[in-house]
Amino acid sequence: MSIGEPFSRIDGPIKVTGTARYTADLRAANMLYGVLVTASIPAGKVTGIDKGGAMLEAGVVRVLTHEDMPRARTPIAGPPFAHSFLPLQDDQIRHEGQVVALVLAESLEAAEAGARKVQVRYAPTKATMPVALAWPEIDRAAEPPRNTGYFFLEPEFSKGDAVHNLAKAPKTVATVYSQPSRHHNPMETSAVLALWEGDALTVYDSTQHVFAVQRGLAALFGIPPASVRVISQHTGGAFGVKGLIGAHEALAAQAARIAGRPVRIALSRANMYSFLGYQPRIVQKMGLGADEKGILTGITHDVVNLATVTDDYIEAATEASKALYATPTMWLRQRAERANVAMPTAMRAPGEGPGMWALESAMDELAVDLGMDPLDLRLANYAETDPATGAPWSSKKLRDAYEEGARLFGWRDRPRFPWRDGDWIVGQGMASCLMGTFRFPSRAQVRLRRDGSAVVETGTQDIGTGVLTIFPQIAADVLGIPVSAIEFKMGDTTLPEAGPTYGSSSTMGVGAAVLAAAQDVRNRLARMANLSPAEVCMADGRIGRTGAAESFSVADILERAGESEIVGTGSFDPTKHGAGYSMRTFGAIFVEVGVDPELGLLRLRRAVGSYSVGRIVNPRTARAQLLGGIVWGWGMAAMEQSAFEPSLGRFLSKNLAGVAIPVNADIPSDITVHFVDEVDEKASPIGGKGIGELGATGVAAAVANAVFHATGKRIRDLPITPEKLIA
Ligand code: MOS
Repeated sequence: MSIGEPFSRIDGPIKVTGTARYTADLRAANMLYGVLVTASIPAGKVTGIDKGGAMLEAGVVRVLTHEDMPRARTPIAGPPFAHSFLPLQDDQIRHEGQVVALVLAESLEAAEAGARKVQVRYAPTKATMPVALAWPEIDRAAEPPRNTGYFFLEPEFSKGDAVHNLAKAPKTVATVYSQPSRHHNPMETSAVLALWEGDALTVYDSTQHVFAVQRGLAALFGIPPASVRVISQHTGGAFGVKGLIGAHEALAAQAARIAGRPVRIALSRANMYSFLGYQPRIVQKMGLGADEKGILTGITHDVVNLATVTDDYIEAATEASKALYATPTMWLRQRAERANVAMPTAMRAPGEGPGMWALESAMDELAVDLGMDPLDLRLANYAETDPATGAPWSSKKLRDAYEEGARLFGWRDRPRFPWRDGDWIVGQGMASCLMGTFRFPSRAQVRLRRDGSAVVETGTQDIGTGVLTIFPQIAADVLGIPVSAIEFKMGDTTLPEAGPTYGSSSTMGVGAAVLAAAQDVRNRLARMANLSPAEVCMADGRIGRTGAAESFSVADILERAGESEIVGTGSFDPTKHGAGYSMRTFGAIFVEVGVDPELGLLRLRRAVGSYSVGRIVNPRTARAQLLGGIVWGWGMAAMEQSAFEPSLGRFLSKNLAGVAIPVNADIPSDITVHFVDEVDEKASPIGGKGIGELGATGVAAAVANAVFHATGKRIRDLPITPEKLIA
């Protein structure tokens, strides 16, 4: 059995020694380096671009602008592109940081020097800027969403008359929660290397979905997808920002065609703050109605997020209220506040991440008002079925997660009052965790060789979550061979098509495809050995009837058949699994914080996360995912904000120097990650569900609830910075 074993990451050594090759490490013969010039105004048009100074720089080969860029052959709009306008196709400026020119040079230094010399003249127009991050200002600015392809979920939902129920409820909460824009900031900035051989394009890319890049670029050039090969061996973190095709990816491919040479564009950190996505700022108006015992009679959740003048990305925060608590009525609305800003996008735990900040803060406020333990309030409103649709859950052991987490934390015996520890006032808080379940079709192939080694092939991506370890584990489990005997080939559109690496979907989709492919190998072998496929198992290079003493050597079976290997194929089709069931992942997070009331400092002292996520393939890599989510949640709670300067229409700090994110010194070692014992065979034959994003949900609310416990201050605007704690 290798499923369920806590294997260390197979990719650990190559990553910590620098052996793993990322896109920006790659070089092609005769390659040009591309550096982007971005707009310095948020709205208007380009009236002229002087390339003269740039062309005088030694090594600069070409400067491409909207004037010399060929127009796209086919109209391109919406996903898989990150927004509905393509770069350098016209003179319009929609946001500061939009790409206005691409400098190509023989070296990176020359391209950077050239980019500094490109003179762009603008005719600015009045820009629409974000309004105050508060109600009612944002309510007045909000508009109904326009669907240009970037809604991933329903923007409006209602059940019963929630407004009426809230009006007559004995207990109500009506509060507004806000949070600033935040950037993904993966360690590896996005990068792309494009090269043409005749009409065939090869792209090395830092991406979460090689097949989407293949389809998008094929459409852009009007060539068949088979003429585009996309390779992504490693992606150094992504969190959503590499999910769609950014301007640099389209431009590298276009520039390589124009220049007749390979082109590599590796983004600067400033570029990541210029034209790529981020989590938009969000204001959420929450309403809860309950009876005297805390039973919810209605939930209203009204969300406004920042979007662009061209497209509406909708941050589906209402998904939290739609799925977590039993309530007879709900009214959920999503709207957009449009401004001349770059297009936001999904960021780790989109929707529920922000939504749970509001919902779980409001639940704590209700518990305080009722004088009820916040955990009891949640148990009293436990949703036995999907509260929006009434559908049964594919699996849900949230009650166990609450109970086991509470026990590990000591929640039930906790001190009722905050206490002092030196300069610190200590408080505790909790929240639920919730994340949507997204599944994508995937295919895989497994080849078992005569020597007992195997190759697993699937066109998935490695963004650092542990897939390079767990997919070989799944195949090894079926084939009865060690994980070390498996070679895993991924990240290439020439391999069987796999889904995107987002939405916490890989284990279910790609994992199930690998499982099926390995089972296909086993079935074929069984038939070759005249055994019934349904009752065989494999171990130590042999196959036999489960429980029987007799077994047959795989090598012998293959030799007799004159075959060097057996090839099995497998696929996962989400429509064939769990129809009629509602799927979510659940959990609970308990935190203890310290507040220094004089300095306004906030520290995480310990945390327990307890999760209901189905079967765990590898407890070590799974723990790392949830732990990473908790740290991410602490960043959301206490540190992260991408400050925007409206007078300039840009993010103030386009580098990591002015960005506060959690470092080791911010995070205590006392963090417990616990999984309840569960298998969900409806979500996927693997029995597991998604874990990459769940851990980031609920944390900000648990922290704010603990801060309230410690200080009596209810902070409703993130992040919880010293000035808010001193005020
Ligand atoms: Mo994530 S926002 O599903 O990459």
